[in-house]
Amino acid sequence: MCPVEIDTLKERVAACGQSHVLACWDTLDPGRQDALVHQLATVPLESIPDLVECHVHGYAAEAPPSDLAPAVVTTPDDSMAAEFSSRGETIIREGKVAAFTVAGGQGTRLGWGGPKGTFPATPVSGKPLFRVFAEQIEAASQRWGTPIRWYIMTSEANDAATRSFFADNNWFGLSRTQVMLFPQGMMPCLDAASGSMLMDGPGRLAMSPDGHGGAIAALERSGALEQMEMLGIEHVSYFQVDNPMPPVIDPVFLGLHADPAYSSGEMSSKMVPKISPAEKVGVFCRVGSKTDVIEYSDLPEALQSETDADGQLRFDAGNIAVHLLGVEFIRRLTAGNEMPWHRALKKVPYYDTTRGERIEPDEPNGVKLERFIFDALPLATKPAILRVDRAREFAPIKNATGADSPASSRQAQSDLYGGWMEARGVDVARGEDGHVLADIEISPLAAMGPGELDAADLPERVGPEERFVL
Ligand code: UTP
Repeated sequence: MCPVEIDTLKERVAACGQSHVLACWDTLDPGRQDALVHQLATVPLESIPDLVECHVHGYAAEAPPSDLAPAVVTTPDDSMAAEFSSRGETIIREGKVAAFTVAGGQGTRLGWGGPKGTFPATPVSGKPLFRVFAEQIEAASQRWGTPIRWYIMTSEANDAATRSFFADNNWFGLSRTQVMLFPQGMMPCLDAASGSMLMDGPGRLAMSPDGHGGAIAALERSGALEQMEMLGIEHVSYFQVDNPMPPVIDPVFLGLHADPAYSSGEMSSKMVPKISPAEKVGVFCRVGSKTDVIEYSDLPEALQSETDADGQLRFDAGNIAVHLLGVEFIRRLTAGNEMPWHRALKKVPYYDTTRGERIEPDEPNGVKLERFIFDALPLATKPAILRVDRAREFAPIKNATGADSPASSRQAQSDLYGGWMEARGVDVARGEDGHVLADIEISPLAAMGPGELDAADLPERVGPEERFVL
């Protein structure tokens, strides 16, 4: 970098109160200088003073809105579902929908060594999550006669490992051009006392992934959005890497999303009724004329447990993080840059530029900034929220043990597929608690629902502790 350029950069960082990031500049070799310049180019420097004011100096936990009401939820009966499905199938056949997995998370709670999508998730063959989705995409492509595109958001930390995994697995039989991987953005970590951007080393900022809401900017930055526009893709089916259950291309959901009577086609979401007031899922609510997700920790306790005349939870619309987003809507969001930032107070190891040493903090010292995808919902004109069956759609793998763990997810998968087999007359062993006692797994390439199971492939009975895979 020439002296004039470095002077300009010094002025820019000084103007946003962050001169310290170049304090060690003269001690860095040219390679590190370049890397630092490159890293700074990814930081929205001009927004930093506002972010520091909002999330450090002036931070106050926001009170939940006072005018919260339950979200309007669509629960289709069979004939409505058939109508939505037929509309949705046309959209799929026309090649207007793509699958989109957000897989940039760190998966700290699960504690798995590699990217979460490489985690063995299914009850019998231990298929990794990425294979589960790849098979669904292949099955949907075959069913509707069009190669469905698959976009995957990784992170700086897991992008290379994710790409290797796909290459090692021959892209799970999908065509190479069908799949596009791209990393999400990073944001600088701020010192929770001073608002200074923390350094990871003398020539490196401490940065963290910008949240699943970073998907909007990443879709644009990577060229994925432009590719979608060129290919005539109009809707993006968004799902998380840690839930093997939902149909990743769902004609009923698409048909609802594309029905002007129910939705503007900008953003639609699936909900399942919460199992208990304390279940840790965000809840779809009405706030004035908008639909929003209120995080479980922000929903006042009185509202969490409030029931209606039938004894049902009033605020029961649990967010399972399955959404449809219109491509035009995503384009509008990238232009508007309106999605808010959220702060998380964490321990962030850092390099102290004045003392010249690395510090491992004992207490949370850093503010990480993240965006959440569901913050797009209130920016959509008329979102639709579809009620779906928890047993069919939601068994996430978040924790190493207990609720939302590999074990609970495998059980949910066996319960689901056991139910499909029972619907075809198979005697499936169940315990007193109703759970299937065998391990059962059915690939979407074999059947996408109970009606598609071929009787010739099925046994008469699956007993306790037996394993059945199709
Ligand atoms: P989680 O909120 O469960 O976070 O992500 P996580 O990082 O995977 O797991 P923990 O909290 O460290 O245990 C929900 C979904 O959003 C994606 C994750 O990959 C997962 O599919 N995600 C999350 C991103 O893609 N980027 C992020 O910055 C955060």
